[in-house]
Amino acid sequence: QYTSFVLVTCSATLTTCFRSSLLPPPLRLRTRLPQIIIIGVRKGGTRALIEMLSLHSSVAAAQNEVHFFDWESHYQKGIPWYLSQMPYAYPDQLTVEKTPAYFTSGKVPKRIYDMNPDIKLLLILRDPTERVLSDYTQVFYNRLQKHKRYQPIEYVLVKDGDINLGYKALNRSLYYVHMQNWLQYFPMDSIHVVDGDELIRDPLPEMKRVERFLKLAPQINASNFYFNKTKGFYCLRDHGKERCLHDSKGRAHPHVAPAILQKLYKFFHEPNQKFFQMVGRTFNWK
Ligand code: A3P
Repeated sequence: QYTSFVLVTCSATLTTCFRSSLLPPPLRLRTRLPQIIIIGVRKGGTRALIEMLSLHSSVAAAQNEVHFFDWESHYQKGIPWYLSQMPYAYPDQLTVEKTPAYFTSGKVPKRIYDMNPDIKLLLILRDPTERVLSDYTQVFYNRLQKHKRYQPIEYVLVKDGDINLGYKALNRSLYYVHMQNWLQYFPMDSIHVVDGDELIRDPLPEMKRVERFLKLAPQINASNFYFNKTKGFYCLRDHGKERCLHDSKGRAHPHVAPAILQKLYKFFHEPNQKFFQMVGRTFNWK
């Protein structure tokens, strides 16, 4: 009896200690579903975008990719679970999550629409060929970490002398195919396309466009960014604290024979034109 009394006291105390260390700062609550979702595209620069957006004091960003609308096991848990994945936010803050796989998942647009038809969607895209190389690089390193082999890029990209249509990463770069699913539910007014190549080259103008689209007070400014020569990318400065993105962002891509690159540019030419027509805007893609 004595032992169990001590245990109960102990565990009660521990629970209290544990809970108190996790308490959010006063007034910040986890009660807001996202008013903004970064829907993709995978390897488009989604991490850079959400980090840069959270420089704004009116934005609170979820740390992890939530995969609520695309993973059945998560979706079945319902909206209360989704809410529990949101960041703590002040009442006047907008909350945002990013899950790059949403863009290419056919069932996601309707599910997001059912939750909130007025939500604002951010889509960050890169030159489709560059995105394929980035996609390959990510899988290559993931497999390397697991001590698994991966085929050289030429083998993945080309089959019997032609572009290998079975390579999934190519499909993810057929932006018009996926975009038409979204436009069945959301008007272009609800979707802002961020130019991922420009975000790398010069992030401030892209972020000012994002601020305007979200109707945020103009706040992000030149002092929030500095170019890190070692990394070869812009890094962030937030209240004097400097930070770059993780080393897995901005890795060198494999060399691809010029003839194969030409095939890829040709392959994407028509799909790109269709995408430009669909969104009423052109991008500087090869
Ligand atoms: P690479 O690693 O192929 O260069 P995502 O976050 O969607 O996975 O996108 C990753 C890509 O973000 C990187 O692809 C990189 O090019 C791009 N990126 C954009 N801005 C960046 C920044 N400031 N620092 C590092 N990577 C950035």
